[in-house]
Amino acid sequence: MATNRRTWLKQVGLGIAGVGLTNLTSSYASPQTEALINGLAAINDTPILLRSNENPYGPSPMARSAIADHLHVSNRYNWNIISELIAALSKKNNVHDENILLGAGSTEILDMVARYAALEKGNFVIADPSFDYWTAPLSTSVLSKIKVPLTADKKIDLAAMQKAINQDTRLIYICNPNNPTGTICERSSLVKFVNEVPRKVIILVDEAYLDFTTQQSLSGLINDYPNLVIVKTFSKIYGLAGARIGYGIAHKTMIDKLSTFPSAPNNSISVLSRLAAMASLKDEKFIAETFSLNEAARQYTVAGLEQLNLSCIPSHTNFIYFSLANFKKDFFQQLTNNNIQGTKIYEEQGKWTRITVGTMQEMQQFIKAIQ
Ligand SMILES: Cc1ncc(COP(=O)(O)O)c(C=O)c1O
Repeated sequence: MATNRRTWLKQVGLGIAGVGLTNLTSSYASPQTEALINGLAAINDTPILLRSNENPYGPSPMARSAIADHLHVSNRYNWNIISELIAALSKKNNVHDENILLGAGSTEILDMVARYAALEKGNFVIADPSFDYWTAPLSTSVLSKIKVPLTADKKIDLAAMQKAINQDTRLIYICNPNNPTGTICERSSLVKFVNEVPRKVIILVDEAYLDFTTQQSLSGLINDYPNLVIVKTFSKIYGLAGARIGYGIAHKTMIDKLSTFPSAPNNSISVLSRLAAMASLKDEKFIAETFSLNEAARQYTVAGLEQLNLSCIPSHTNFIYFSLANFKKDFFQQLTNNNIQGTKIYEEQGKWTRITVGTMQEMQQFIKAIQ
Protein backbone atom coordinates (compact mmCIF):
# COMPACT_ATOMS: atom_id res chain seq x y z
CA MET A 1 0.00 0.00 0.00
CA ALA A 2 2.80 2.41 0.88
CA THR A 3 4.24 1.97 -2.60
CA ASN A 4 0.83 2.50 -4.11
CA ARG A 5 0.36 5.74 -2.27
CA ARG A 6 3.79 6.97 -3.30
CA THR A 7 3.04 6.10 -6.93
CA TRP A 8 -0.28 7.85 -6.79
CA LEU A 9 1.14 10.98 -5.15
CA LYS A 10 3.79 11.06 -7.84
CA GLN A 11 1.17 10.68 -10.53
CA VAL A 12 -0.99 13.51 -9.25
CA GLY A 13 2.09 15.67 -8.86
CA LEU A 14 1.41 16.65 -5.29
CA GLY A 15 4.42 14.77 -4.02
CA ILE A 16 6.68 16.67 -6.39
CA ALA A 17 5.10 19.99 -5.60
CA GLY A 18 5.95 19.38 -1.99
CA VAL A 19 2.44 20.24 -0.95
CA GLY A 20 -0.36 18.67 0.85
CA LEU A 21 -1.24 15.08 0.74
CA THR A 22 1.99 13.45 1.89
CA ASN A 23 1.80 15.58 5.01
CA LEU A 24 -1.93 15.25 5.05
CA THR A 25 -1.79 11.49 5.24
CA SER A 26 0.97 11.36 7.82
CA SER A 27 -0.20 14.06 10.17
CA TYR A 28 -3.84 14.96 9.58
CA ALA A 29 -5.68 12.26 7.70
CA SER A 30 -8.17 10.10 9.48
CA PRO A 31 -7.91 6.35 8.85
CA GLN A 32 -10.92 6.71 6.54
CA THR A 33 -9.24 9.41 4.43
CA GLU A 34 -6.05 7.40 4.28
CA ALA A 35 -8.03 4.36 3.13
CA LEU A 36 -9.66 6.50 0.43
CA ILE A 37 -6.31 7.76 -0.81
CA ASN A 38 -4.91 4.25 -0.83
CA GLY A 39 -8.01 3.10 -2.67
CA LEU A 40 -7.47 5.76 -5.33
CA ALA A 41 -3.88 4.63 -5.63
CA ALA A 42 -5.03 1.08 -6.16
CA ILE A 43 -7.40 2.26 -8.90
CA ASN A 44 -4.53 4.11 -10.55
CA ASP A 45 -2.35 1.03 -10.45
CA THR A 46 -4.94 -1.15 -12.15
CA PRO A 47 -6.01 -1.51 -15.78
CA ILE A 48 -4.71 0.23 -18.85
CA LEU A 49 -7.61 2.59 -19.55
CA LEU A 50 -8.25 2.77 -23.28
CA ARG A 51 -11.97 3.34 -22.92
CA SER A 52 -12.87 6.99 -22.39
CA ASN A 53 -10.48 9.02 -24.56
CA GLU A 54 -8.76 10.66 -21.63
CA ASN A 55 -5.31 12.22 -21.84
CA PRO A 56 -2.86 9.66 -20.38
CA TYR A 57 -0.25 12.37 -19.66
CA GLY A 58 -2.40 14.97 -17.96
CA PRO A 59 -3.12 17.11 -16.00
CA SER A 60 -0.39 19.40 -17.29
CA PRO A 61 2.48 20.27 -14.93
CA MET A 62 1.19 23.85 -14.62
CA ALA A 63 -2.33 22.62 -13.80
CA ARG A 64 -0.95 20.23 -11.16
CA SER A 65 0.98 23.06 -9.53
CA ALA A 66 -2.05 25.35 -9.68
CA ILE A 67 -4.12 22.75 -7.83
CA ALA A 68 -1.40 21.93 -5.31
CA ASP A 69 -0.50 25.56 -4.62
CA HIS A 70 -4.07 26.66 -4.06
CA LEU A 71 -5.58 23.98 -1.86
CA HIS A 72 -5.84 26.58 0.88
CA VAL A 73 -8.17 28.91 -1.07
CA SER A 74 -10.89 26.28 -1.32
CA ASN A 75 -12.53 27.65 1.82
CA ARG A 76 -13.67 30.75 -0.17
CA TYR A 77 -16.01 31.02 -3.15
CA ASN A 78 -13.44 33.09 -5.07
CA TRP A 79 -15.93 34.51 -7.59
CA ASN A 80 -13.16 36.53 -9.24
CA ILE A 81 -11.61 33.35 -10.61
CA ILE A 82 -14.78 32.68 -12.60
CA SER A 83 -14.54 36.04 -14.36
CA GLU A 84 -10.81 35.58 -14.94
CA LEU A 85 -11.41 32.18 -16.53
CA ILE A 86 -14.24 33.50 -18.68
CA ALA A 87 -11.97 36.35 -19.82
CA ALA A 88 -9.18 33.88 -20.65
CA LEU A 89 -11.59 31.71 -22.65
CA SER A 90 -13.16 34.58 -24.55
CA LYS A 91 -9.67 35.80 -25.47
CA LYS A 92 -8.59 32.33 -26.59
CA ASN A 93 -11.70 31.92 -28.74
CA ASN A 94 -11.77 35.48 -30.00
CA VAL A 95 -15.26 36.19 -28.66
CA HIS A 96 -16.65 38.35 -25.82
CA ASP A 97 -17.11 37.32 -22.19
CA GLU A 98 -20.89 37.35 -22.71
CA ASN A 99 -20.46 34.52 -25.25
CA ILE A 100 -19.02 32.01 -22.76
CA LEU A 101 -20.90 29.71 -20.39
CA LEU A 102 -18.98 27.43 -18.02
CA GLY A 103 -20.05 23.93 -17.04
CA ALA A 104 -18.85 21.04 -14.91
CA GLY A 105 -17.62 19.27 -18.02
CA SER A 106 -19.05 19.93 -21.46
CA THR A 107 -21.72 17.38 -20.51
CA GLU A 108 -23.36 20.04 -18.36
CA ILE A 109 -23.55 22.42 -21.34
CA LEU A 110 -24.87 19.64 -23.60
CA ASP A 111 -27.50 18.97 -20.97
CA MET A 112 -28.56 22.65 -20.85
CA VAL A 113 -28.89 22.74 -24.63
CA ALA A 114 -30.92 19.51 -24.53
CA ARG A 115 -33.23 20.92 -21.89
CA TYR A 116 -33.65 24.15 -23.80
CA ALA A 117 -34.46 22.24 -27.00
CA ALA A 118 -36.95 20.07 -25.11
CA LEU A 119 -39.03 23.05 -24.05
CA GLU A 120 -41.08 22.38 -27.19
CA LYS A 121 -42.19 19.10 -28.73
CA GLY A 122 -40.45 17.90 -31.87
CA ASN A 123 -37.36 15.96 -32.89
CA PHE A 124 -33.59 16.16 -32.92
CA VAL A 125 -31.18 14.97 -35.60
CA ILE A 126 -27.98 13.08 -34.79
CA ALA A 127 -25.49 11.02 -36.79
CA ASP A 128 -25.33 7.29 -36.12
CA PRO A 129 -23.05 6.35 -34.50
CA SER A 130 -22.07 9.52 -32.71
CA PHE A 131 -21.60 10.70 -29.12
CA ASP A 132 -25.09 10.34 -27.72
CA TYR A 133 -24.93 9.78 -23.95
CA TRP A 134 -26.19 13.29 -23.32
CA THR A 135 -29.34 12.66 -25.39
CA ALA A 136 -30.86 10.10 -22.99
CA PRO A 137 -33.23 12.61 -21.33
CA LEU A 138 -34.25 13.92 -24.76
CA SER A 139 -35.18 10.57 -26.23
CA THR A 140 -37.43 9.70 -23.37
CA SER A 141 -39.17 13.05 -23.27
CA VAL A 142 -40.64 15.36 -25.84
CA LEU A 143 -38.10 15.06 -28.63
CA SER A 144 -37.92 12.02 -30.86
CA LYS A 145 -34.59 11.00 -32.33
CA ILE A 146 -33.82 11.05 -36.04
CA LYS A 147 -30.66 9.01 -36.64
CA VAL A 148 -28.72 9.67 -39.82
CA PRO A 149 -26.28 6.95 -40.97
CA LEU A 150 -22.67 7.90 -41.61
CA THR A 151 -21.18 7.73 -45.11
CA ALA A 152 -19.44 4.49 -46.16
CA ASP A 153 -16.11 5.94 -44.98
CA LYS A 154 -17.65 6.68 -41.54
CA LYS A 155 -17.92 10.44 -41.94
CA ILE A 156 -20.88 12.54 -40.81
CA ASP A 157 -23.09 12.93 -43.86
CA LEU A 158 -23.84 16.65 -43.66
CA ALA A 159 -26.10 16.61 -46.73
CA ALA A 160 -28.18 13.76 -45.31
CA MET A 161 -28.30 15.44 -41.89
CA GLN A 162 -29.60 18.60 -43.51
CA LYS A 163 -32.18 16.63 -45.50
CA ALA A 164 -33.41 14.96 -42.29
CA ILE A 165 -34.47 18.29 -40.82
CA ASN A 166 -38.22 18.83 -40.95
CA GLN A 167 -40.59 21.45 -39.59
CA ASP A 168 -40.55 19.85 -36.13
CA THR A 169 -36.77 19.70 -35.76
CA ARG A 170 -35.56 21.54 -32.67
CA LEU A 171 -31.92 20.53 -32.59
CA ILE A 172 -29.20 19.09 -34.80
CA TYR A 173 -25.98 17.75 -33.28
CA ILE A 174 -22.63 17.59 -35.06
CA CYS A 175 -19.71 16.04 -33.25
CA ASN A 176 -16.59 17.33 -35.01
CA PRO A 177 -14.40 15.27 -35.03
CA ASN A 178 -16.95 12.54 -34.51
CA ASN A 179 -16.84 10.18 -31.54
CA PRO A 180 -16.52 7.16 -32.02
CA THR A 181 -15.27 7.26 -35.62
CA GLY A 182 -12.59 9.97 -35.35
CA THR A 183 -13.59 11.46 -38.70
CA ILE A 184 -13.77 15.19 -39.34
CA CYS A 185 -16.03 17.41 -41.46
CA GLU A 186 -14.29 19.94 -43.66
CA ARG A 187 -14.62 23.38 -42.14
CA SER A 188 -15.92 24.95 -45.34
CA SER A 189 -18.69 22.30 -45.54
CA LEU A 190 -19.61 23.00 -41.93
CA VAL A 191 -19.79 26.75 -42.52
CA LYS A 192 -22.09 26.15 -45.51
CA PHE A 193 -24.18 23.75 -43.41
CA VAL A 194 -24.57 26.27 -40.56
CA ASN A 195 -25.64 28.87 -43.08
CA GLU A 196 -28.24 26.62 -44.69
CA VAL A 197 -29.88 25.10 -41.60
CA PRO A 198 -33.08 27.03 -40.75
CA ARG A 199 -32.45 29.60 -38.00
CA LYS A 200 -35.14 28.11 -35.77
CA VAL A 201 -33.11 24.87 -35.42
CA ILE A 202 -30.43 24.85 -32.72
CA ILE A 203 -27.12 23.70 -34.20
CA LEU A 204 -24.98 22.06 -31.55
CA VAL A 205 -21.36 21.55 -32.59
CA ASP A 206 -19.28 19.47 -30.19
CA GLU A 207 -15.59 20.29 -30.57
CA ALA A 208 -14.35 18.03 -27.75
CA TYR A 209 -11.59 16.59 -29.96
CA LEU A 210 -10.88 19.54 -32.27
CA ASP A 211 -7.71 20.29 -30.27
CA PHE A 212 -6.17 17.13 -31.75
CA THR A 213 -6.45 18.69 -35.22
CA THR A 214 -5.31 21.90 -36.85
CA GLN A 215 -8.83 22.85 -37.92
CA GLN A 216 -10.13 26.21 -36.74
CA SER A 217 -13.14 26.26 -34.40
CA LEU A 218 -16.53 27.52 -35.56
CA SER A 219 -16.53 30.02 -32.68
CA GLY A 220 -16.07 32.89 -35.16
CA LEU A 221 -19.59 32.27 -36.49
CA ILE A 222 -21.60 32.74 -33.30
CA ASN A 223 -22.41 36.39 -33.81
CA ASP A 224 -23.98 35.72 -37.19
CA TYR A 225 -25.86 32.60 -36.08
CA PRO A 226 -27.70 32.93 -32.75
CA ASN A 227 -28.89 29.32 -33.21
CA LEU A 228 -25.29 27.97 -33.08
CA VAL A 229 -23.82 26.55 -29.86
CA ILE A 230 -20.26 25.25 -29.70
CA VAL A 231 -19.18 23.03 -26.82
CA LYS A 232 -15.59 22.58 -25.68
CA THR A 233 -13.99 20.60 -22.91
CA PHE A 234 -10.89 20.48 -20.73
CA SER A 235 -11.34 16.68 -20.43
CA LYS A 236 -9.39 15.68 -23.53
CA ILE A 237 -6.16 17.35 -24.68
CA TYR A 238 -6.00 19.41 -21.46
CA GLY A 239 -6.07 16.25 -19.35
CA LEU A 240 -8.65 17.42 -16.81
CA ALA A 241 -11.44 14.85 -17.25
CA GLY A 242 -11.76 14.28 -13.52
CA ALA A 243 -11.66 18.00 -12.74
CA ARG A 244 -14.96 18.37 -14.68
CA ILE A 245 -14.69 21.55 -16.66
CA GLY A 246 -16.05 22.52 -20.04
CA TYR A 247 -17.79 25.45 -21.68
CA GLY A 248 -20.17 26.59 -24.35
CA ILE A 249 -19.67 29.41 -26.85
CA ALA A 250 -22.73 31.08 -28.37
CA HIS A 251 -24.44 34.37 -29.18
CA LYS A 252 -25.42 36.34 -26.05
CA THR A 253 -29.12 35.65 -26.64
CA MET A 254 -28.45 31.90 -26.64
CA ILE A 255 -26.16 32.10 -23.58
CA ASP A 256 -28.92 33.99 -21.74
CA LYS A 257 -31.45 31.27 -22.59
CA LEU A 258 -29.13 28.42 -21.56
CA SER A 259 -28.22 30.27 -18.36
CA THR A 260 -31.78 29.95 -17.12
CA PHE A 261 -31.34 26.21 -16.50
CA PRO A 262 -28.67 26.10 -13.77
CA SER A 263 -29.71 27.90 -10.58
CA ALA A 264 -26.34 29.69 -10.54
CA PRO A 265 -24.77 29.85 -14.03
CA ASN A 266 -20.98 29.42 -14.27
CA ASN A 267 -20.89 28.27 -10.69
CA SER A 268 -20.76 24.48 -10.81
CA ILE A 269 -16.97 24.24 -11.09
CA SER A 270 -14.71 24.09 -8.05
CA VAL A 271 -12.16 26.81 -7.46
CA LEU A 272 -9.34 24.30 -7.96
CA SER A 273 -10.72 23.15 -11.31
CA ARG A 274 -11.07 26.74 -12.46
CA LEU A 275 -7.46 27.43 -11.51
CA ALA A 276 -6.32 24.21 -13.17
CA ALA A 277 -8.13 25.20 -16.36
CA MET A 278 -6.52 28.64 -16.41
CA ALA A 279 -3.08 27.15 -15.84
CA SER A 280 -3.69 24.56 -18.58
CA LEU A 281 -4.48 27.29 -21.09
CA LYS A 282 -1.04 28.73 -20.43
CA ASP A 283 0.78 25.39 -20.60
CA GLU A 284 1.32 25.42 -24.35
CA LYS A 285 4.34 23.13 -24.08
CA PHE A 286 2.24 20.39 -22.51
CA ILE A 287 -0.49 20.73 -25.16
CA ALA A 288 2.07 20.56 -27.97
CA GLU A 289 3.70 17.52 -26.38
CA THR A 290 0.37 15.74 -25.92
CA PHE A 291 -0.49 16.50 -29.53
CA SER A 292 2.68 14.96 -30.91
CA LEU A 293 2.84 12.04 -28.46
CA ASN A 294 -0.75 11.23 -29.45
CA GLU A 295 0.10 11.37 -33.16
CA ALA A 296 3.06 9.01 -32.70
CA ALA A 297 1.16 6.50 -30.54
CA ARG A 298 -1.81 6.64 -32.89
CA GLN A 299 0.36 6.01 -35.95
CA TYR A 300 2.02 3.08 -34.20
CA THR A 301 -1.36 1.60 -33.21
CA VAL A 302 -2.90 1.98 -36.66
CA ALA A 303 0.14 0.24 -38.19
CA GLY A 304 -0.17 -2.56 -35.61
CA LEU A 305 -3.90 -3.01 -36.25
CA GLU A 306 -3.43 -2.99 -40.01
CA GLN A 307 -0.68 -5.59 -39.70
CA LEU A 308 -3.31 -7.79 -38.05
CA ASN A 309 -5.51 -7.19 -41.08
CA LEU A 310 -7.96 -5.02 -39.09
CA SER A 311 -9.12 -2.03 -41.10
CA CYS A 312 -8.94 1.38 -39.44
CA ILE A 313 -10.75 4.62 -40.18
CA PRO A 314 -8.26 7.52 -40.50
CA SER A 315 -8.48 9.30 -37.14
CA HIS A 316 -8.25 13.01 -36.31
CA THR A 317 -8.49 12.36 -32.58
CA ASN A 318 -7.01 10.47 -29.63
CA PHE A 319 -8.91 7.29 -30.49
CA ILE A 320 -9.15 4.87 -33.39
CA TYR A 321 -12.25 3.25 -34.92
CA PHE A 322 -11.50 -0.14 -36.41
CA SER A 323 -13.22 -3.29 -37.54
CA LEU A 324 -12.99 -6.64 -35.78
CA ALA A 325 -14.50 -8.43 -38.79
CA ASN A 326 -11.19 -10.20 -39.46
CA PHE A 327 -10.31 -10.79 -35.83
CA LYS A 328 -10.34 -14.49 -35.11
CA LYS A 329 -10.12 -14.47 -31.30
CA ASP A 330 -12.42 -12.93 -28.67
CA PHE A 331 -11.16 -9.34 -28.69
CA PHE A 332 -12.70 -8.26 -25.40
CA GLN A 333 -11.55 -11.41 -23.65
CA GLN A 334 -8.00 -10.73 -24.90
CA LEU A 335 -8.24 -7.24 -23.41
CA THR A 336 -9.57 -8.56 -20.10
CA ASN A 337 -6.82 -11.18 -19.93
CA ASN A 338 -4.27 -8.40 -20.29
CA ASN A 339 -5.89 -5.97 -17.86
CA ILE A 340 -6.85 -3.50 -20.59
CA GLN A 341 -10.18 -1.69 -20.77
CA GLY A 342 -11.69 -1.03 -24.21
CA THR A 343 -15.25 -0.04 -25.07
CA LYS A 344 -17.88 -2.00 -27.01
CA ILE A 345 -19.04 -2.85 -30.50
CA TYR A 346 -20.64 0.27 -31.95
CA GLU A 347 -21.85 -1.21 -35.21
CA GLU A 348 -22.71 -4.91 -35.26
CA GLN A 349 -22.43 -4.93 -39.00
CA GLY A 350 -18.70 -4.80 -39.65
CA LYS A 351 -17.99 -5.25 -35.93
CA TRP A 352 -16.64 -1.74 -35.44
CA THR A 353 -15.09 -0.81 -32.13
CA ARG A 354 -13.02 2.06 -30.74
CA ILE A 355 -9.77 2.17 -28.82
CA THR A 356 -8.36 5.21 -27.03
CA VAL A 357 -4.78 6.18 -27.86
CA GLY A 358 -2.82 5.88 -24.61
CA THR A 359 0.91 6.26 -24.14
CA MET A 360 3.26 4.50 -26.57
CA GLN A 361 4.00 1.91 -23.91
CA GLU A 362 0.29 1.28 -23.34
CA MET A 363 -0.32 0.90 -27.06
CA GLN A 364 2.56 -1.54 -27.36
CA GLN A 365 0.92 -3.59 -24.62
CA PHE A 366 -2.42 -3.30 -26.40
CA ILE A 367 -1.05 -4.55 -29.73
CA LYS A 368 0.81 -7.36 -27.97
CA ALA A 369 -2.40 -8.34 -26.16
CA ILE A 370 -4.33 -8.84 -29.40
CA GLN A 371 -1.58 -10.45 -31.48
C1 LIG B 1 -17.69 14.12 -28.11
C2 LIG B 1 -17.73 14.28 -26.64
N1 LIG B 1 -18.38 15.33 -26.14
C3 LIG B 1 -18.45 15.53 -24.81
C4 LIG B 1 -17.88 14.64 -23.92
C5 LIG B 1 -18.05 14.88 -22.47
O1 LIG B 1 -16.93 15.44 -21.95
P1 LIG B 1 -16.88 16.18 -20.54
O2 LIG B 1 -15.90 15.43 -19.74
O3 LIG B 1 -16.42 17.56 -20.90
O4 LIG B 1 -18.23 16.19 -19.93
C6 LIG B 1 -17.19 13.53 -24.40
C7 LIG B 1 -16.59 12.58 -23.48
O5 LIG B 1 -16.07 11.55 -23.81
C8 LIG B 1 -17.13 13.34 -25.80
O6 LIG B 1 -16.52 12.29 -26.33
